[in-house]
Amino acid sequence: MDPVRNPFAPGAGSQPPELAGRDEIIANANVALQRVLQGKSDQSQILLGLRGVGKTVLLNKIEAMAEEHGYLTSFMEAPEDRPLPALLYPMIQQTLRKLSVSENAKAAAYFAMRALRSFARTFKIEVGDFSVAVDPEPGVADSGNLEFDLPELFVRIGEAATAAGKGWVLLIDELQYLKQADLSALIVATHKITQRNLPVLVFGAGLPQIASLSGDAKSYAERLFAYPRVGALPEDAAIAAVRNPIEDEGERISSEALSAIFAETRGYPYYLQEWGYQAWNLAEKSPIGADIAKAASKAALRRLDEGFFKVRYDRLTPKEKDYVCAMATLGNGRYKSSDVADALGDAQQRFGPVRASIIKKGMIFSPAYGEIDFTVPLFSEYLRRQQPG
Ligand SMILES: Nc1ncnc2c1ncn2[C@@H]1O[C@H](COP(=O)(O)OP(=O)(O)OP(=O)(O)O)[C@@H](O)[C@H]1O
Ligand SMILES: [Mg+2]
Repeated sequence: MDPVRNPFAPGAGSQPPELAGRDEIIANANVALQRVLQGKSDQSQILLGLRGVGKTVLLNKIEAMAEEHGYLTSFMEAPEDRPLPALLYPMIQQTLRKLSVSENAKAAAYFAMRALRSFARTFKIEVGDFSVAVDPEPGVADSGNLEFDLPELFVRIGEAATAAGKGWVLLIDELQYLKQADLSALIVATHKITQRNLPVLVFGAGLPQIASLSGDAKSYAERLFAYPRVGALPEDAAIAAVRNPIEDEGERISSEALSAIFAETRGYPYYLQEWGYQAWNLAEKSPIGADIAKAASKAALRRLDEGFFKVRYDRLTPKEKDYVCAMATLGNGRYKSSDVADALGDAQQRFGPVRASIIKKGMIFSPAYGEIDFTVPLFSEYLRRQQPG
């Protein structure tokens, strides 16, 4: 059918034509946003899920809702190996600029701007040209310990937002790439603004290992944050995710085709988009039938094998590749680390470093003590396809 009208949106962070099965997560975030803006307390949230389940899409949605409610928002993606202060600085500066426009918030925003200046100097952040001359404030956000300085800075931002009658939402994607110390500081800062009932909320998203990371970081992180799980879609939602966009375009798809697509994708949102996209393009005309779903499956897998999966596999060193291939020979996860070591024919301790470096790259995670699994759904099948037998 006409590829120009193809409604599907496979791709990182691409807004899906139908955001299926996420009503509860969206409603909860919406309640938290409204409560906090009214001076009531609610939890910041960290969305946890595997690759391609729709975390970024949800963060975008939450950002849009926050803006509708009158929040200023800052959205950032934590890259691998970059310190948090440098990432936050331009976001905070921009937020304070916007707040300072409000007559009531001028003084508080200036106050916060001075703290930001101190912070920038302390953490040696390149500040570029500061169009407004602001002097750093000695003794504020300048201890050099991020766990003290970030909370001070957040409080000042919260006070400026309060004065302006606004709120601030900080959204951070790929949270698992933050260094432990940065994550700790973020947690302490979030704690501080919650205690003070300031109109600030943090929404994060990341791979499932964050829950234990942040638990280690600060024991109160467990109470401080809600951790909505973002997973594969249940069958009815997965079917809606494929059927509704097709019907919205005035076309149809058979229920056999939908069932086949659900079975192949196991309801993983990114794969649903890929399968839907291929099925639409391969079909001569509506309704899309089971034969087309089958052909779409072949085409989608070929595309994933050459792109999505391969890119991830290629980021691994030869030793790391051996390790993940050994995992795949054991079937589908979860895996016991000891079983993987056995499959490789050596003592478990020897693989500690390799395992840790694959975790750091975000390819595998530890769902429970002594266990590991892939962060990319259907990755073990991919590895077995590459190495028959
Ligand atoms: N609820 C949903 N219904 C249908 N499709 C969805 C849904 N959520 C996300 N998608 C689609 O899934 C794909 C992946 O979404 P997204 O990039 O947000 O995932 P992610 O969890 O952030 O992945 P990663 O961990 O790789 O960053 C996109 O093509 C998006 O359109
Ligand atoms: Mg993402």
